[in-house]
Amino acid sequence: MTEHIVVVGALNADLAIRVDRLPAPGETVSGRDVEVLPGGKAANQAVAAARLGGRVRLVGAVGDDDSGRMLREHAAAAGVDTSFVAMLPEVPTGQAIIPVDDAGENSIILVPGANGAIGPENIPVEAYADAAIVCLSLEVPLPVVLRAAARAVAAGAAVVLNPSPFRPLPGELLDAVSVLIVNELEAEQLLGPTVAPAWPGAAKALRAALQPHGIDRIVVTRGAAGAVVVDGKAVTEVHATSVDAVDTTGAGDAFTGALAVRLAEGDPLAAAAAEASVVAAFSTTRRGAQPSYPTASELAEWR
Ligand code: RIB
Ligand code: NA
Repeated sequence: MTEHIVVVGALNADLAIRVDRLPAPGETVSGRDVEVLPGGKAANQAVAAARLGGRVRLVGAVGDDDSGRMLREHAAAAGVDTSFVAMLPEVPTGQAIIPVDDAGENSIILVPGANGAIGPENIPVEAYADAAIVCLSLEVPLPVVLRAAARAVAAGAAVVLNPSPFRPLPGELLDAVSVLIVNELEAEQLLGPTVAPAWPGAAKALRAALQPHGIDRIVVTRGAAGAVVVDGKAVTEVHATSVDAVDTTGAGDAFTGALAVRLAEGDPLAAAAAEASVVAAFSTTRRGAQPSYPTASELAEWR
């Protein structure tokens, strides 16, 4: 039996807009095909993991509105336990405005709403009782992330952190992390300005930088260039599946969700990352974040 995966963080209604190209400052471009789609990093990770067969519990909050209900229903329909998604009165559900260009690239404007209104008191201990893996990201206030990390450690679960959107990470948080998933930009921010990263060598520098916090399991995702996996002394390169990307929104969350499922099943990190990279590639071939995530059988048919 697969162990429980607990995902803590944000749920957002994504307002997705197709554009020929992303607007420069001061520029107006016209958009088309406006859609409201289920998103938010934690909800995305949870849905990605559940679609692949993981036993997933989502911890977070929405407002008492149509978007909040849509997000809870969508996650529940994917098989996610949403009983720890609070419905907060008097705040709107989180929103993300996401123009997506013809190459599938996006920019995101986040309006936190309920995600910004939760506090450590919204992180109940019961949610962690049987957790094997706890996935954390940074679209909710830091005290919430810290409380969730502490709960995870107390429950003996492995903390998988995706520090996105990036902000400086307190040592207390890093100390709790078992697996760190970063993109190249986040890796560079962790390394600081003095290092000019060349991959995969920079992964070793990152391991050295994080060693004081006891982190020796790191995945650096590199988009079309694949990923670099550090697992103790071993550094492994994972090749990307080449695809015609339609929309890369939430591809990183698909990666994290899929990785969590494989880790919960006992896969070594490099094998889990190789599988996660296929899932992330699949997700870029369809529009939106959650609506683009595959089930295990869709994935098997596609590869
Ligand atoms: O990682 C993608 C997600 O970031 C989107 O679904 C959007 O909600 C933003 O939070
Ligand atoms: Na997608």
